[in-house]
Amino acid sequence: MPILFLQELPIYTLLLLLVPPLYYLYTRASCTSAELPTNWPILHMFPSLVANRHNMHDYCTRVLAGSGRNFRAHGPPGTGMRFFLTCDPANVRHIFTTNYANFPKGEEFAAIFDIMSGGIFTIDGEPARRQRAKIKGVLSSPQFLDNTASYCLHKTEKNLLPFFTEMASVGTPFNVQEIMSRFMFDLAATSLFGVDPGLLSSDMPPMDAARALDTVMEVGFFRHIMPTSCWKLMRRLNIGPERKLSTAHGVLRRFVVEMLDRSKSNKCHIGNEHLHADIMSPFHNDPDYTNDELSRALIISYLVAARDTVATTLTWIFYKLGQNPNIVSNIRNELSPIASRKLASSAGGIVIFEPTETKSLVYLRAVLYETLRLYPPAAIERKTVATNDIMPSGHKVHSGDTIFICIQSMGRMEGMWGKDCLDYKPDRWLSEDGNKLRYVPSHKFLAFNSGPRLCLGKEIAVMQMKTVIAATVWNFDVQVLEGQSIEPKSSCILEMKNGLKIKLKKRAM
Ligand code: HEM
Repeated sequence: MPILFLQELPIYTLLLLLVPPLYYLYTRASCTSAELPTNWPILHMFPSLVANRHNMHDYCTRVLAGSGRNFRAHGPPGTGMRFFLTCDPANVRHIFTTNYANFPKGEEFAAIFDIMSGGIFTIDGEPARRQRAKIKGVLSSPQFLDNTASYCLHKTEKNLLPFFTEMASVGTPFNVQEIMSRFMFDLAATSLFGVDPGLLSSDMPPMDAARALDTVMEVGFFRHIMPTSCWKLMRRLNIGPERKLSTAHGVLRRFVVEMLDRSKSNKCHIGNEHLHADIMSPFHNDPDYTNDELSRALIISYLVAARDTVATTLTWIFYKLGQNPNIVSNIRNELSPIASRKLASSAGGIVIFEPTETKSLVYLRAVLYETLRLYPPAAIERKTVATNDIMPSGHKVHSGDTIFICIQSMGRMEGMWGKDCLDYKPDRWLSEDGNKLRYVPSHKFLAFNSGPRLCLGKEIAVMQMKTVIAATVWNFDVQVLEGQSIEPKSSCILEMKNGLKIKLKKRAM
C-alpha cells in the first residue's frame, strides 16, 4: 500500500503545482459554442474537461456535433487519459456487437464502481456471461414478471395515487423526482428482499440509502473525469467527494444487512399472496457467490439498474408532458377506451390501468422512447480497448484507450434524427398510420444498450413506466412550476440537479 501511495505522489504533486495555470485555463476554456476543446501544452484537454464538468452531456454533444460524431481527447502525460468519444452508430455497432470482445468495460471501470465489484455492471467476459444468464433466468420467469407487475400496480394504487390525490386536494407543489425515487426504490428493494422499505408511505421516512446510491453515481462521474491516481489518492486521504462516497458505502452496507434481516421474518403480501424475493435465489447455492461482499455487490447493482433508470426517466417524462398538453391529450385518447370500461367501478373517481391493459398501447410506448432518446438515464457508456483496432469511421484506437460512447449525444444528432432532433415528438416513433412502432436498431437508439449486454429489464421498465404515467395522466392535470432551473446533475445517471417541482389538479370526469 505505501509503495502505491508513493507512486501516485509525483502525479498528484504535479497536478497541485498546476493549480494556478489550471485555474487560469479553467476560466478561459469553458466551451459555450460549437468550438472544440483547446489542446493546451502539457495539460492538453484536461482544463476543458474540468471546466465543463457541470454540463458534460451538452458539452459532449456540442463537441461531437462539431467534429463529425467522433473526437479524440487526451489529458496530461502519465495520467492515462487517452479518450475516444463517439456517438456514431457504425462505431457503436462495432464496439457493442461486431467486435464486442475487444471492448470490455475494463479494470478502471470496475475500480470506479468498487461498491459493485463483481456485480454484473463491473465484469466482462465469461464471468459476465454466466452472471447475466442467471439474472436473465429470473427476470424472464413468468412468476417474477407476475410478482413485479402486481406489486407495481399495488404500490401505485396504495401509495402513489393517494399521495397524488392529497397533493392535488391541497394544491401543494412537490418535487416529483424525489417521489419517483422513493417509489422506484421501494419496488426495486421489494423484488430483492420481499420487503417494502416504505420510502413512499404515509410517514415518508428519511431516504438515506436512496441518497447513498445517488452519491455512488455522482462520485462515479467525478472519478470518470479525474486522473485515476488523483481520485485514488483522495480516497486514501479520505477527502473531498471520496469522503462522501465512503460514508455512502457505509450506509448501503448497513441497509443491505438490515433488509436481509427483515426479509427473514417479514415478507410482503398482496392479499394472501407472498411476494418472493427471487433475484438472488440462483446465486444461493453457487460456490462462486458465497462471499458477503459479492452478494452485496449484486444487490446494489440491481438497485442501481432497477431504481435509478426508471425513476429518472419518469421525472423527465413529467417534465415534457407538462410542456406538451397535446401529447397529454393523445395519451388520454389512447387510454379512453380502457377507462370507459372501468369508470363505473373506480374507487373515488380514480382509475388505475393494469399492466395487461397498457401492454399494447403504442402511443404511450412512443412517449417513453422519445423521452429516452433525449434523456437516456445512463447517458454515457465507458469501454476499454483490448487490442489496437480501426473503427468503421476510420479512427484508430489503441490498446488501453478509453472509449466514451455518448448516448445522449446519439439522440441529438441532426444527421441521425433530422432537423427537428431536439424537438420532443413521440410521433417520430410511429408508422404512417400511427398503429405501429417504427423499428429503430439498438445501435442507433442506445438507451437500453446493444448487443450481448442489452438491458435485461427493458420490458419490466416499460411496464412500470406505463403504469405510473397512465394512472397519473388519466386522473390528474400536471403543471410544471415556472421559473425552475432544469439541468442534469453531474452524475452517471441523468437526474435533474434541482429536482422537478410540479402541481397536480384532479381531473373532473
Ligand atoms: C428506463 C429504464 C432502463 C434503462 C434506460 C436501462 C438501461 C440499461 C443500460 C444502458 C444498461 C447497460 C449498462 C452497462 O452495461 O453499463 C443496462 C443493463 C442492465 N439493466 Fe437496464 N435499464 C432500465 C431498467 C432496468 C430495470 C427495471 C432492470 C431490472 C428489472 C434492469 C436490469 C438491467 C440489468 C440486469 C443489466 C445488466 C445487463 C448486462 O450487463 O449484461 N434495467 N440497462
